Amino acid sequence: MLNGKRILLVISGGIAAYKSLELIRRLRERGAAVRCVMSKSAGQFVTPLTVAALSGDKVYGELFSLTDEAEMGHIELSRDADLLVVAPASADLLARMAAGLADDLAATVLLATDKPVLAAPAMNLRMWLHPATQRNVAQLKADGIRFVGPNDGDMACGEYGPGRMAEPAEILAAVETFFRAAAVPQDLKGRKVIVTSGPTHEPIDPVRYIANRSSGKQGHAIAAALAARGAEVVLVSGPVNLPDPPGVKTIHVESARDMFSACFLNLPADAAIFAAAVADWRVAVEAPQKLKKTGELPPTLQLAENPDILRAIATTDARRRPALVIGFAAETENVVANARKKLAAKGCDWILANAVGTGTGTFGGDHNTLHLVRKDGSGGEGGVEDWPQMSKTAAAARLAERIGAFFNRSAPEAAPVVKLPKPKLSKGRRA
Ligand code: C5P
Repeated sequence: MLNGKRILLVISGGIAAYKSLELIRRLRERGAAVRCVMSKSAGQFVTPLTVAALSGDKVYGELFSLTDEAEMGHIELSRDADLLVVAPASADLLARMAAGLADDLAATVLLATDKPVLAAPAMNLRMWLHPATQRNVAQLKADGIRFVGPNDGDMACGEYGPGRMAEPAEILAAVETFFRAAAVPQDLKGRKVIVTSGPTHEPIDPVRYIANRSSGKQGHAIAAALAARGAEVVLVSGPVNLPDPPGVKTIHVESARDMFSACFLNLPADAAIFAAAVADWRVAVEAPQKLKKTGELPPTLQLAENPDILRAIATTDARRRPALVIGFAAETENVVANARKKLAAKGCDWILANAVGTGTGTFGGDHNTLHLVRKDGSGGEGGVEDWPQMSKTAAAARLAERIGAFFNRSAPEAAPVVKLPKPKLSKGRRA
């Protein structure tokens, strides 16, 4: 997994520095080359000799070292890695990073780098909870620094709380996650995609509503997978118990009509994926006050049909219609045949059909068995690709990969709707 990856490990002063020795070993076991920079105070906790022995490389510590600068200047040191890991990241080093200081080699390397940085904070809980540290961490996150930990736990100083450095195995997992994500091709960069997800809530009165069992897991996973491939994603989500996916603009709505407006307001887009379980009906007239038991017959709810968002967008004028419109079909029988009918009825380009109902566990579950049916008959026999059962995350990644392939074939209708600033020196557009 980490074969051939180059990691620059910045060790700052803290009792957790001893755990970084274990981290070096684990990174190297997985094939990574680890080069270390130690802050001055790091030497109070671990010796450069141990770090050099474990990393199998020279350890750097001096900003103004003539020999070091002759061998490898601090700028080169900061750029000659695929990832910089700061472990432990002390409160002091985080503060210097947030302020952009360059008062020792560790801070200088972190300021001079153009490579991604992952920090594993380690400090006393009061220092971690201090508004100054929290402000610095928020600033660093906004600057694009990734964090792993800290965890809650016993402190070396005898207190208990947040501030313990993440364990070497957790830091290693974060490093692997980083490289896995970095390996995903950015073939949707410059593309805008709208995704709907979750159920809708249709109000009956101010306290009651009609809903369904959609969890939003599939739609949210699709939004995250598209963002991972570089797309600008607008997720229009009904009420769900899921966090907003990182790197995605999430618009929270309640009813089908709100979802409809949010989708149209966000056109134009290159693609639109309708994974939401939109309620087919709403109550025709929402009661302004809570309906009361009158002792007579229970109230009758008159239903009205909701707008079909997928059909409306798939059949909107060619100027606004996304080049790729994808719907879902939840079927209890004849899944593929019904999906074909739905393709025609909705006017969309692709349908992802899945079997729902008793025993399938699709609603609210973590897995899905999908069939991708394409209107143009491409992509499999009769335009159907049968996917084996897989996690909703894996299904989302596969769909995002298919969408990337769709936009990267040369098709005039698939020119991006989002204009990217042209690179200054390029002549014409790159393929
Ligand atoms: O007609 P049916 O509900 O089976 O269609 C399912 C597909 O249509 C899904 O992609 C769903 O998100 C979309 N849909 C919609 N607006 C509706 C109903 C369904 O976008 N009102």
